[in-house]
Amino acid sequence: MRWNGVIQKYRSYLPFDEDVQIISLNEGNTPLIKADRLAEIIAPKANLQLYLKYEGLNPTGSFKDRGMTAAITQAVHEGAKTVICASTGNTAASAAAYAARAGLRCLVLVPEGKIALGKLAASLAYGAEVISIDGSFDDGLDMVREIVERQPIALVNSVNPWRLEGQKTGAFEIIDQLDGRSPDWHCLPVGNAGNISAYWMGYKQYDKGRPRILGGQAAGSAPIVTGKVVEKPETIATAIRIGNPARWRQALEALDESGGIITAVTDDDILASWNLLAKTEGVFVEPASATGIAALKQQIEMGAIDPTNKTAVCILTGHGLKDPGTAVAQATDPHTLPATIEALEKYLAGS
Ligand code: F0G
Repeated sequence: MRWNGVIQKYRSYLPFDEDVQIISLNEGNTPLIKADRLAEIIAPKANLQLYLKYEGLNPTGSFKDRGMTAAITQAVHEGAKTVICASTGNTAASAAAYAARAGLRCLVLVPEGKIALGKLAASLAYGAEVISIDGSFDDGLDMVREIVERQPIALVNSVNPWRLEGQKTGAFEIIDQLDGRSPDWHCLPVGNAGNISAYWMGYKQYDKGRPRILGGQAAGSAPIVTGKVVEKPETIATAIRIGNPARWRQALEALDESGGIITAVTDDDILASWNLLAKTEGVFVEPASATGIAALKQQIEMGAIDPTNKTAVCILTGHGLKDPGTAVAQATDPHTLPATIEALEKYLAGS
């Protein structure tokens, strides 16, 4: 069957009007990759069934496209001509792409110097007006929430309920890919907390079993873990550099109702998991996307999660090419050789 995006696939679960014109880039249908080698490393001999939901394979390279197809579709339906968001980068790129496809003007506010190169490049390429602010994501979110009160502009951050409606299809897809079963654990990074809220909505609505939710925050940006707004959030995982999540309350509900856990992982833990993912499974993600794995590894090591015969799904939220700067900074330089077969043979011989 042809895949035409998440709205068409899961239309009966989404509250759109009959006559809505769908704006889609055929998002969704991302692979659920079994990760046996990684499972054996983070939970030796436990028969952990570990799956990677590779959301970086969405059209703009992140999970945001599921929610954005819904938000832009509804914005167009309601007659919007301009959309706006604050973003650490991925929402910006996604909004820019779907706005382009719908012929809308798109403004994105990003924290100066704290947006990964691939996200900036894409937002500009799609024709968004990129506004760099000398503040954090949280400052930008305050600004856009206020401007839409004053001007006829549609807000497409995840405070917009349509974003969660589209995003929840990720939960439907996981259950479908696991042949109608829910995993035992659902692990993911938490920033503004839209994704964790949407997944929980999705699992509840689909009603085919519910996982326990494990959320990971970066230690320097962990307001939900500490219970306190972080005024100056910091982390190498710039996607989740957020100090005051808009969907905080819903995230707590998801954690509470699912018997879940939220934990902080250090930047070193995040990078170690990022490295493991790429080098043991061949899956390249942006650093924030490794946070779910880092959280799972930590909780297993601490004895808080028993992995024995369990199924866990980790959401890999964004593609590695989003943040080439961090990838190159983490790597050793390439080897340089003269362009001769002798030089190559010598290199192979280890001299
Ligand atoms: N992973 C990536 C790659 C992200 O870009 C984000 C959020 C998250 C995880 C966290 O998801 O906010 O729903 O808890 N990025 C937003 C943005 C904030 O502007 O692109 P969340």
